[in-house]
Amino acid sequence: MRSLPRLEILTEELLGNRLGAGVYQRWVQELGLTGTERVLEVGCGAGACARHIAEALPAGSLTCLDVDARWLAIAHKRLARYEQTEFTVGDIATWKRAGAFDAIVVHFVLHDIPADKRAASLGNIAASLKPGGRLLLREPTSHGMAIEELLGLLDGARFSPRKPAAYDRLPLMGETFFGEWVLSP
Ligand SMILES: C[S@@+](CC[C@H](N)C(=O)[O-])C[C@H]1O[C@@H](n2cnc3c(N)ncnc32)[C@H](O)[C@@H]1O
Repeated sequence: MRSLPRLEILTEELLGNRLGAGVYQRWVQELGLTGTERVLEVGCGAGACARHIAEALPAGSLTCLDVDARWLAIAHKRLARYEQTEFTVGDIATWKRAGAFDAIVVHFVLHDIPADKRAASLGNIAASLKPGGRLLLREPTSHGMAIEELLGLLDGARFSPRKPAAYDRLPLMGETFFGEWVLSP
């Protein structure tokens, strides 16, 4: 596997980890974690979001999953001081941990997954949640996937909104669609 371009790493460090830190921090606050939960972040990339999740889980655990070992290695390095965090290389289209997590965070990932693997990916996300577990998800509206497709996929995986989903415009990230869902009984 070729190494990541240095410029790409620097851009992520600047935009995701530094300038975007407040956006990720507020996003994680949406979950209202008590600190003891088991959380999975799917497509954690270099850990811009994961570090805020780990910070909010002093007595819980965080599993960082990414299909790309190179970004995951950067996340691992950044989050080295959070002992309750594990790093797993895997494709969510084929990876699941049955009933293991209280919450799953998916930030700007689903649109990156090939269209024919998205239903399986959401199926594995659903299968990995404990009963009553929550899915916090945000996707860009400008590229990758129509929101109608996303809503159909969520419905197909038996997710219903926990609170009304919404659109917002974020600095650096543009317009996004986000919300929190739970599995229908
Ligand atoms: C646009 S980046 C977002 C990274 C991070 N969530 C953030 O918001 O900063 C998308 C990430 O999803 C990962 N990804 C793409 N397809 C995946 C899959 N099928 N399973 C797991 N991770 C995947 C990519 O490797 C990449 O790190």
